[in-house]
Amino acid sequence: MSTQELFGVTRGEVDYGDVQGLVRFGYKRMSEASYALVRVKSVAAARSWLRSAPISSAATIDPPPSTAMHVAFTATGLEALGVSASVLAGFSSEFLTGMTEASRSRRLGDVGSNAPPHWEWGSSGSVPHLLVMFFAEPGRLDAFVQRSTGDVWNDAFDTLRRLSTGDLGGLEPFGFADGISQPAIDWPQQRERSDGHIAYSNVVALGEFLLGYRNEYDKYTDRPLIDADAASAGLAAAEDAPEKKDVGRNGTYLVMRQLRQDVRSFWQFISRHAGADPAAADTLAAAMVGRTRAGDPLVPIQDHAIPGIGSQPDQIRRNQFTFDQDPAGVGCPFGAHVRRSNPRNTDYPGRQTGLRRLIAALGFGRNRFRDDLMSSVRFHRILRRGREYGPALSPSDALAPAPPNDPERGLHFICVNANISRQFEFLQNGWMMNTKFSGLTGESDPLLGNREALPGCPVTGDFIMQEDGGVRRRVSGLPQFVTVRGGAYFFLPSLRALRYFAGTQR
Ligand code: HEM
Repeated sequence: MSTQELFGVTRGEVDYGDVQGLVRFGYKRMSEASYALVRVKSVAAARSWLRSAPISSAATIDPPPSTAMHVAFTATGLEALGVSASVLAGFSSEFLTGMTEASRSRRLGDVGSNAPPHWEWGSSGSVPHLLVMFFAEPGRLDAFVQRSTGDVWNDAFDTLRRLSTGDLGGLEPFGFADGISQPAIDWPQQRERSDGHIAYSNVVALGEFLLGYRNEYDKYTDRPLIDADAASAGLAAAEDAPEKKDVGRNGTYLVMRQLRQDVRSFWQFISRHAGADPAAADTLAAAMVGRTRAGDPLVPIQDHAIPGIGSQPDQIRRNQFTFDQDPAGVGCPFGAHVRRSNPRNTDYPGRQTGLRRLIAALGFGRNRFRDDLMSSVRFHRILRRGREYGPALSPSDALAPAPPNDPERGLHFICVNANISRQFEFLQNGWMMNTKFSGLTGESDPLLGNREALPGCPVTGDFIMQEDGGVRRRVSGLPQFVTVRGGAYFFLPSLRALRYFAGTQR
């Protein structure tokens, strides 16, 4: 393995052939996808299927493949496959205890109608062991799934659920362009370490998305490191402990949540508050999302480049902005979904310098209301890989009452991160569900918030927009537009770890 010396430490180059391709590619050309949630019926057959399954790597292939397959495991899935307790103990506690642990449910907002007992899958008794993801170019999915799930598959697994996805041409079911802003992974691990990361950068350390590499703290995220023996011989050595084998290296965690979107209630509520004026409805909906339906930001594009945004005109037009240009939240409300999910400001809000920065870093000085929870965005980025499901419903058609058997629409939300608690859970809890964010109180994310009145917590059905001249416009009584239907935390292993799980121990 070739290495490079950077910042005084030895870093290994990434072996793309060992990383599951989902971490590197969004498979936009493969517009068909389906997910199988399965439980192990026969350990021997499951291992046999896993040994021969053509799991796609992150290596580039010419010509590009027309199909891709990925596999990820819950903690109970690894246990069912026979992975030893000592190996399991090295995984993170979020992964081991799972998405539905009671205090976690409260923090994620999985209460009321979002609570796990109402889920279709993922709560006790319906936790999947494996997630198998199939992607294909148009017209190729069914044959691909059929080819991949023959006799051995049938011997190996009981199918808990098969989740289909739709293709709304780059829109999510509410009708907004999706999949626009993603972090740029620092694959070569050569990112310039500027003076304390004062400026917002879209380039994020590889270790935030793959285990076994340095993260934004310049440290290695905990993962199972085991003694070398015959069974673990195929695993890579740990970069930070070369005498150990690294079960996590080139693997990562995958968060999946099935989120039902009530498209009719969304547009009917908005239309009512916009006086049935379609243009005003578009403006209000865009304020809630933080982008127009076409995906344009609500704040001006800045003239200086942001590292990792890209240089194509489209990338600049859609993503070369921070909220520094809109400090009062007049262009994009503080509570808008994209402003909550990526506030894009820096470690030291307000760009303090010199002594003021030192004072702030030490936790002294004047704490402005907006500074809490907003700093250090670079520690809380996620890579989104979700897909929508259900048929299209335009904003105008959504105004009609629901017919009987109106099909369900929503998002199979999927994200990849090396630290579930610091990345996905922080976003979901600290930024989305928290009723105190960026100087706001009594409101949570306008798209995702569950409007439950909890003992001691204010009702969260408000959305506030700041207007010129310090005037605030408040929209009250937001219904719950999104309901959680299922979810689980998975480990997306490297191909080496997959072979290790599939074959070697017991
Ligand atoms: C049904 C539920 C959801 C809908 C309809 C939705 C919709 C959107 C839309 C329209 C965008 C803007 C387009 C883009 O940048 O890709 C966006 C961005 C984003 N969303 Fe969501 N989203 C949902 C759930 C979530 C959840 C559960 C999370 C994480 C906990 C999340 C995190 C993000 C992030 C990180 C961005 C990018 C922000 C940026 O970097 O500017 N979203 N979402």
